[in-house]
Amino acid sequence: MCGIVGYTGPREAYPVVIKGLKRLEYRGYDSTGVALLNGTVKVYKKKGRVAELEEYAVGKELHAHTGIGHTRWATHGEPSDRNAHPHTSRSGKLAMIHNGIIENYVQLKKDLVNKGYHFTSDTDTEVLLNFIEDIKENNNCGLEEAIRIALKRVTGAYCILLINEDDPGTIIAARKGSPLVIGVGKGEHFLGSDASPMLEYTKEVVYVNDYELAIVKPDELILKNLGNEKITPFITKLDMDLAAIEMGGYDHFMLKEIFEQPSTIHDCLRGRLDATAGTITMSGVQNNIEAFKTAQRIIIVACGTSWHAGLVAEYVIEELCRIPVEVEYASEFRYRNPVINKGDIIIAISQSGETADTLVAIEKAKEQGAVIFGIVNAVGSSIARLSNGGAYTHAGPEIGVASTKAFTGQLAVLTMMALKIAKEKGTITDERYSKLLFELDSIPEKVEAILKGANAIKAIAEKYKGAADALFLGRGYNFPIALEGALKLKEISYIHAEGYPAAEMKHGPIALVTEILPVVFVATKDSYHEKIVSNIQEIKARKGKVIAIISEGDDVIPSLADDVFFVPPADEIMAPLLSCIPLQLLSYYVGIAKGVDVDKPRNLAKSVTVE
Ligand code: F6R
Repeated sequence: MCGIVGYTGPREAYPVVIKGLKRLEYRGYDSTGVALLNGTVKVYKKKGRVAELEEYAVGKELHAHTGIGHTRWATHGEPSDRNAHPHTSRSGKLAMIHNGIIENYVQLKKDLVNKGYHFTSDTDTEVLLNFIEDIKENNNCGLEEAIRIALKRVTGAYCILLINEDDPGTIIAARKGSPLVIGVGKGEHFLGSDASPMLEYTKEVVYVNDYELAIVKPDELILKNLGNEKITPFITKLDMDLAAIEMGGYDHFMLKEIFEQPSTIHDCLRGRLDATAGTITMSGVQNNIEAFKTAQRIIIVACGTSWHAGLVAEYVIEELCRIPVEVEYASEFRYRNPVINKGDIIIAISQSGETADTLVAIEKAKEQGAVIFGIVNAVGSSIARLSNGGAYTHAGPEIGVASTKAFTGQLAVLTMMALKIAKEKGTITDERYSKLLFELDSIPEKVEAILKGANAIKAIAEKYKGAADALFLGRGYNFPIALEGALKLKEISYIHAEGYPAAEMKHGPIALVTEILPVVFVATKDSYHEKIVSNIQEIKARKGKVIAIISEGDDVIPSLADDVFFVPPADEIMAPLLSCIPLQLLSYYVGIAKGVDVDKPRNLAKSVTVE
């Protein structure tokens, strides 16, 4: 949430910062701003997107070799020009951008107001910046020392970047809870919330850790802790190319990412799954195999779509490994006083690896001695680094705000893990193990086949785009997919949608059924097929409109449903990997038909780094 960019070096800073902000716009798009340092600090900021700032900046003084930029997801104060970052300090000499929330800003603000400070915005950021400047003036110390003192006194999360008129060429950065990557070039440095703003300039990056402060000059990077001790920066080589973060001919990132799934799932399985040899190689699982084999319980913590992947995993792990699984919303788990016993394993699932609630939930569980296993997409992210072991989903950068390919990557990793643990534990027969390995291996091909039918989904989307509400129903492995389908439709098309277990529908939601309510059944062939057919009959008896995602060869549901979409047959354990694809397409096409900016839907942002 909120994207931050910085540059210092021989290039013109403004174009580097603007390009970087465009890459990070998925993290928030309520307002945009830049601060440039060329003798004095100049700030240009605007409500709206980067393109609007660019228009506004035409003809302005933009020459500078040091600059910072921000794209905002509003927390404190409405989206507006005055609440946009960067903010400047009372003296006008300092400019700062911030990603996160300063929780004790009200008290800090009161103290500053009592000292005569006036604030021009409603933000916690302007308070923190002036708090820093106040310390600098009163303690007669340098900016670096003032930042250290201030950060010890604030609570909350932050990644901040500051420039100072009295120290040209230097950017000071610090983080706690919000991500920061520094790209190391020749005589230049780049800063970003992720590595995308620096990809074409350098492949060498430093992931800054919590409670670290970076003093960044064109030819020098000094890393320190808040105790002012130097830390040797650990340089990581980026394994990502520019094509991965570009649209590649598609109209939207979301569509590109949906269509990438045959290859992203393949990449996730590649080098791990060998169906012919009957092996699954996952070093993170192998290194913790005794813990998994003897686990008394697995607790999965995640948010949103990743939480839905956790729900699928609950069904799969309990079935194959016979280990009890609980799936927790990270935001609830972190504030409860959860019972964590010896022998419990916590699995954290996160695309971004930076979700604040998930991060803090596992920090707390780790403090209580739990083993943390991370299933993460963003390499080098905070959750990945905090975990005791883990497995990457290898879906590549996901830019569309709605998660699609990362979700199927999570499902693929979790299914592989469950199979591996079941085999090691002896809770699966050799025959079933082998069958499921081949089934998993064939998923990319089946997803490819589903995507060939995208136009059929587009036609269904056209038919139902005017709906005000929708219901998504599924049973067993497909129940979490019903939840996910409803979430996707809500966020991408703004249609109110609810997901339910199909049988639960008659305990309340059936009251909503009318002849205009679309009810989407996720009803691929499984052990409950006859039951879900009865649920479809119950909706039809009340004249609801039924859209059904079903398996090829199903000759019962087509005669009941108003619209059907066929997916290739698969073992029920693999069904979620297939049945989610038409639902992703459905939300995409409804969103497009309604004119929604599907890559950046209203009020949302990717990578939720505030709680
Ligand atoms: C929905 C979506 C969100 C995320 C959630 C968790 O399409 O993308 O619900 O799944 O914010 O994010 P991560 O997986 O990055 O922890």
